[in-house]
Amino acid sequence: MKFAILNGKIIERSEAKVDIEDRGYQFGDGVYEVIRVYNGKMFTVTEHLNRFVKSLDSIGITLPYTMDHLTKLLEDLIAKNNLQLGTIYMQITRGVTPRNHAFPSENVSPSLVAYTKEAARPLENLKIGVKTIVTEDIRWLRCDIKSLNLLGNLLAKQKAAEVGCFEAIQHRGQDVTEGSSSNIFIVKNGMIITHQSDNLILKGITKDVILQVCERNSIPVEERTFTLDEFMDADEVFLSSTTAEVMPIIEVDGKKVGDGLPGPVTKRLQEWFEQEIEKQCGALQDKILN
Ligand SMILES: Cc1ncc(COP(=O)(O)O)c(C=O)c1O
Repeated sequence: MKFAILNGKIIERSEAKVDIEDRGYQFGDGVYEVIRVYNGKMFTVTEHLNRFVKSLDSIGITLPYTMDHLTKLLEDLIAKNNLQLGTIYMQITRGVTPRNHAFPSENVSPSLVAYTKEAARPLENLKIGVKTIVTEDIRWLRCDIKSLNLLGNLLAKQKAAEVGCFEAIQHRGQDVTEGSSSNIFIVKNGMIITHQSDNLILKGITKDVILQVCERNSIPVEERTFTLDEFMDADEVFLSSTTAEVMPIIEVDGKKVGDGLPGPVTKRLQEWFEQEIEKQCGALQDKILN
């Protein structure tokens, strides 16, 4: 039997149902997080919860629990579901109220839902890399909020899926922003370049871990806008996300990146990223370089 969290209580997953007038269901009026679990432990949980609160603040919802309480709830859920390797999905919406665009009065309580999923690491793709396409970024101007409204992202991802690609890399005019569910990095002459964390991208937790690792290992990084031309001319390209980790990109729109194999800088980052996981969550059974 599997369990889920519904409004602060752990209940049987099959019993976890939401009202048809939940504002998340009707308007996408809420925010979410996805947290990776390795060896039954959450990776970068504090960073994810801080971003969750930041997203909530941006749309005027107050987290109805303390951070400690929410962390404990998530830990209890992992234990109840006996989750070793997988993800936690968690969302909060503005709550249940008769449909009306304007926010309801303060006495409507936000709805919290969380559940777990078993998921292996994508080791094959991490070893050989993935294919991608580029597509115009048609999303709104607050991509820094991890909003439930994902239509722009879904349309981009679907375009990629239809041609057998893993990810769609979005651009606004000449400027590359981010993937439909990932941050994008290029490597040129040993320098790593990635879009600055502003309103046009989601400030990835994985991106932040990568930037910290680069700083500790004296790998030069520029956080700045880069163009499609720079992107197509890069020595290496990779993407990052909670579920995809540090994922080499070997093809863009049918053209090989470099020699079409994961590059040396990307591989070194993958190794350092695995070390970060092991520091927080204990030894990994299978590694990329095994
Ligand atoms: C649009 C977008 N950008 C970036 C990311 C990467 O963020 P994180 O590393 O926190 O998973 C995601 C993750 O889902 C995303 O949806």
